Amino acid sequence: MSSSPQDKLDRLNELRQEALAGGGEEKVARIHEKGRLTARERIHLLLDEGSFQETGVFVQHRSHEMGMDKYRPVGDGMVTGVGRIDGRQVYVFAQDFTVFGGSMSEANAGKICRLMDQALENGCPVIGLNDSGGARIQEGVRSLAGYAEIFWRNTMASGVIPQISAILGPCAGGAVYSPAITDFTLMTDQTSYMFVTGPNVIKMVTNEEVSFEELGGATTHSTKSGVAHFQAATDQDCLLMSRRLLSFLPQNNLEDPPRIVPNDRPERREEKLNSIIPADNKKPYDMLDVIQLIVDEGDFMEVQPRHAQNLICGFARLDGQPVGIVANQPRVQAGVLDIASSIKGARFVRTCDCFNVPLVVFEDVPGFLPGTDQEFGGIIKHGAKLLYAFCEATVPKLTVITRKAYGGAYDVMNSKHIRADWNVAWPSAELAVMGSEGAVNVLYRNQIAESKDPEAERARLTDEYTQTYANPYIAAGLGYLDDVIEPADTRAQLIRALGNLAGKKQTLPPKKHGNIPL
Ligand code: HXC
Repeated sequence: MSSSPQDKLDRLNELRQEALAGGGEEKVARIHEKGRLTARERIHLLLDEGSFQETGVFVQHRSHEMGMDKYRPVGDGMVTGVGRIDGRQVYVFAQDFTVFGGSMSEANAGKICRLMDQALENGCPVIGLNDSGGARIQEGVRSLAGYAEIFWRNTMASGVIPQISAILGPCAGGAVYSPAITDFTLMTDQTSYMFVTGPNVIKMVTNEEVSFEELGGATTHSTKSGVAHFQAATDQDCLLMSRRLLSFLPQNNLEDPPRIVPNDRPERREEKLNSIIPADNKKPYDMLDVIQLIVDEGDFMEVQPRHAQNLICGFARLDGQPVGIVANQPRVQAGVLDIASSIKGARFVRTCDCFNVPLVVFEDVPGFLPGTDQEFGGIIKHGAKLLYAFCEATVPKLTVITRKAYGGAYDVMNSKHIRADWNVAWPSAELAVMGSEGAVNVLYRNQIAESKDPEAERARLTDEYTQTYANPYIAAGLGYLDDVIEPADTRAQLIRALGNLAGKKQTLPPKKHGNIPL
C-alpha cells in the first residue's frame, strides 16, 4: 500500500529531526556541561543569520562491523554546508561530538571532500569546526583513507582559497595534519587540544607524565609550539575571531581582500611618534604602540601574539585597505631575529602574499640571535625562510625603519635590494653592519689596547662610528631608501605609497615551485 503525501512529509520531518538532534539530548547536555557548543550551535554563531544551506543532510555511514548496522545516525556526525559571513560566501563543516565522538568515517569524510571541491570550484573560503575523537575506530583503514582525501584537498586548495581551522574539542593523531596544512588554526582555552600522540602513549614510550592541557592545550600551542595562531576564551569568542580574520582575506587568490570605508582620516598625523624612540638606542619601546598609532582606528588583529614575541605579525587596515604587518618588537629580546620568529614571519609573509595582502614592515632589528642553541637548531636555514619569503613575495611591499637595521637582518627585513617597493626611515634610523660597540671592538681592538687611556679612546671611536654610520643618510644617499620621513607623518605616507602601488604587477620566473629552505 502506498503512503499518502502527508505520510511522506511526516517521514521527511522525522528524518530531519533526527539529523538536527545529533546524538540526542543527553549527549548534548554533556558537552554543554563542558563549556562546548554543538556543531549546529557553532554554525549558527559563525554565519550571518539565516544564511546556512546544509549539504549531505541525510548521509549515513555504511559500516556493518561491530554492531554498527544497528545505529546509522542521520548526517553521521558531520554538518556541512554553505553560508555567508558579512555577506560573503563561505563553506563550513562542523564535527558533531555527540555522534560517535565526532569521529571521522568514510561517509562523513566524503561530505567534507565534496564541500572542499565545491569551495574550490566556487572560489570561496573553507572553515572547519573541529571537535573529534579522530579516525572512527570501527571503520579502520577506510577512515584513514577519508583523512588522506581531506589532506590532499587541503594541499590543493592551499594558496587558492583561505582555509581556517577552529579547534573546539579534541583533535588528535594524524587528524591534526588537516588543520596544520590550513592557513590559520584557532583554539579554545581549556576545551580543545591537539597532539600527534596523547599523554598515555607518551607515558608508555618515554615515561614522561603530562596532562592533556599541558601537552596540547590552547596555551601550549599559542605560546610554545606556535601551532595555533589564535587562542580564544570560549566557542563564541573563537567563532567571532574567525569572522574577523576572514574580513582581512579575499575570497580566493584571484581577488583582492575586501576594502572597507574607513572611519579614520588618511592624513591623520600622530605627534607622539616623533618622540616615541628613546634617546638611548639601547632602551626599548613598544612597537605595538607604533602600529596602533598608525593603522585605521588603532585596530590590529595580531597573529600568534604570544609566540615568538620578538616579531609582531598581524592584520590591520590603512585607509580601509587590509595590510599584513611584520614588525620587530624591541621590547622582547631587543627585537632580535631567532629561529621561532623567522619561521613565524616567513609563514605570515607567504600567507599575505598568496592572498594579495600588501606587506608593511616596521623595522628595528639588531640582527640574528647568537648562540649554539640557535646555530645547532639551524638558524641558517630558518632565517633563510624569512629572507626567501620576502624575496618571493610579489604583493606591494613597504618598509619603515624606525631605528636599528643591522647586518644580515637589514637585508632580510624587506630591504630595497630584495625588491621592496617603498623603503623609508625615520631620522632615528641606524643602518649599519653592526652596532657601534661591536664595530669598534672589531676594527680598533689593538688601537684601543695600545692607547694611553683605553676607555677614553673606545668612547671617542664609538662616537666617531656612531656619527659616521648610525644614521639613515648614507643609505638614503645611495638610493636604498626612498625618503627619510617625519615619524608623525608615517600613516599619511604609507597610505599614499600603498595607493601608488595599487596597480603593481610582478611575476616570478616560470617554475614548478620554488624550493624554500624547510
Ligand atoms: C569511534 C569514538 C571515537 C573514535 C570517541 N568515540 N572517539 N567512536 N571512533 N575514534 C566515541 C566514544 O566511544 C563515545 O561513545 C563517544 O564517542 C564519546 O567519547 P567519550 O570517550 O565518552 O568522550 P570523552 O570522555 O570526552 O573523551 C574524548 C576522547 C576519547 C579523549 C577523544 O573518546 C578518546 O580517547 N577517543 C579515542 C581517540 C583516539 O585514539 N582516536 C584515534 C586517534 S588516531 P558512546 O557511545 O559511549 O557515547 C587518528 C588517526 C587519524 O585519529 C589518522 C589520519 C591520518
